[in-house]
Amino acid sequence: MKVKKAVIPAAGYGTRMLPITKAQPKEMVPVVHKPVIQYVVEEAYYSGIRDILIITGKGKRAIEDHFDRSDLPKKDKYVDELDRILEEVDIFFVRQKEQKGLGDAVRYAESFVDDEPFALLLGDTITFPPCTKELIHAYNRYKTSIIAVEEVPTERVSLYGIVACKEIENNVYLIEDLVEKPSVDEAPSNLAILGRYILTPEIFDCIHETKPGKSNEIQLTDALRILNTREKMYAYLFKGKRYDIGNKLDWLKANIEMALEDEEVGKEIREFIKSMGV
Ligand code: UTP
Repeated sequence: MKVKKAVIPAAGYGTRMLPITKAQPKEMVPVVHKPVIQYVVEEAYYSGIRDILIITGKGKRAIEDHFDRSDLPKKDKYVDELDRILEEVDIFFVRQKEQKGLGDAVRYAESFVDDEPFALLLGDTITFPPCTKELIHAYNRYKTSIIAVEEVPTERVSLYGIVACKEIENNVYLIEDLVEKPSVDEAPSNLAILGRYILTPEIFDCIHETKPGKSNEIQLTDALRILNTREKMYAYLFKGKRYDIGNKLDWLKANIEMALEDEEVGKEIREFIKSMGV
């Protein structure tokens, strides 16, 4: 079965981005020209997906408004690009009733997904080139759940979900286990889950069976561990860029790096940074 649907959870509190996120969703925080969630929707689109479900919640209404067709008096190339995409995609919204964790948020996609494999893209993470496109390509070979990972420095493993796995071919690993935020000593590898997944609908039964874990939240990683006992799961090593917009330091770094590479402002930003003599 082809991957035709995407799910984007965007209902989390975003406490690490306070006070920026006090009255606006973390997913609407700007990165150079666009809010984060626009990059995520565009990634799904450029990966061939035309049906997208965004999971929102309390205080997240700006996300829905952002994906209305614009009736602005002035033209803007980024708005036009989005309008063009909106011509072709259907975006659906569902509200997570309580912010009970990523696993709980994904549960709300069950009737939208039905019996098809689907792409899951975290709403606060940007990838270049589109990681989902590569994942779908890999899924088409393996036809089972496959999750994107990236290499992280060993001293940072305790910030991520880490996979225990063995390489079966270039960039593809068979997952043996998944560990949420292990200590450096306990980490089975330095391959970190980066927020892009292709999952089979079996994940929903696994979520229903998952008990609340850390911070009393339903953790997606716990549900994935159950899934791993029921079907083969693979990890795909993504070699592109991944920007985490969930914390201030990485968000600022993403803005600098992406502004430097931007065709419109890159040259001036580079000169500006040089002129600062830092
Ligand atoms: P995070 O793990 O960064 O959690 O979510 P958070 O609550 O948004 O942020 P902090 O920890 O309070 O700073 C990863 C993704 O999962 C979504 C978020 O919106 C984000 O895109 N999420 C998280 C939900 O949709 N619902 C939840 O209950 C938790």
